[in-house]
Amino acid sequence: MSIITVATSKGGAGKTTLAQIITGTVAKRGLRVAAIDADYNHSLADWVRTFGRYPITIETELNETKIIPLAERLAETHDLVVIDTAGAAMQATVFAIGCADLVLIPCQLSSADVVEAAKTSHLVQSAAAMTRQEILTRVVLTDYQAKTVVAGHVERELEVCGLKTLETRLHRLVAFKEMTFTGEVPGEGAAAAQANALLSEVVALGALPLPSKELVS
Ligand SMILES: Nc1ncnc2c1ncn2[C@@H]1O[C@H](COP(=O)(O)OP(=O)(O)O)[C@@H](O)[C@H]1O
Ligand SMILES: [Mg+2]
Repeated sequence: MSIITVATSKGGAGKTTLAQIITGTVAKRGLRVAAIDADYNHSLADWVRTFGRYPITIETELNETKIIPLAERLAETHDLVVIDTAGAAMQATVFAIGCADLVLIPCQLSSADVVEAAKTSHLVQSAAAMTRQEILTRVVLTDYQAKTVVAGHVERELEVCGLKTLETRLHRLVAFKEMTFTGEVPGEGAAAAQANALLSEVVALGALPLPSKELVS
């Protein structure tokens, strides 16, 4: 029903972490969730298959000609399809962006993250021009350290580049790292609150068919 693509050409920016947070948290709420791992390292697929904590339908697909038919097929039988993409330039990423209702661009607090977020945003605009429709895009600040000079600097730089950010920041929290070893998304504390706040914003943007109150545990 809804397709969210997580993309940025910066490696290690938090794409897979964000895809885990979204798919795990939404599946936990009882929605039908599918994920497509379009990265060579297939970290998202490994996470889903190794732990199997949530009923997430997981597919791996690197072939650019197969991404859109696969996403559309999964969207017919699921409430949400999340596509995790590679950091390196791949045609599959362009098509994953082209079929998305929302593109989320994770960005940490470094210059390279901002540069690659801007490049990825340009790629989204090109895909939008190609498909002749707007593609909703938001930057997600992650591994975030509040009240630091660099955080303020990155936020200003993103604004100068004309990049819109979600209001929710995913802070640098150990719970987001533990998740990679346990297979479970945070269920309480600051990390869970941030995950829920992020999803409420996605709902408000119209990119997730769920009443936002259902995300408040
Ligand atoms: N909000 C966060 N808090 C703590 N660590 C984070 C956060 N976001 C990402 N990371 C860490 O950053 C590293 C890279 O993240 P990953 O999601 O694998 O990036 P990508 O998929 O873009 O290559 C991982 O070690 C991950 O645990
Ligand atoms: Mg990844």
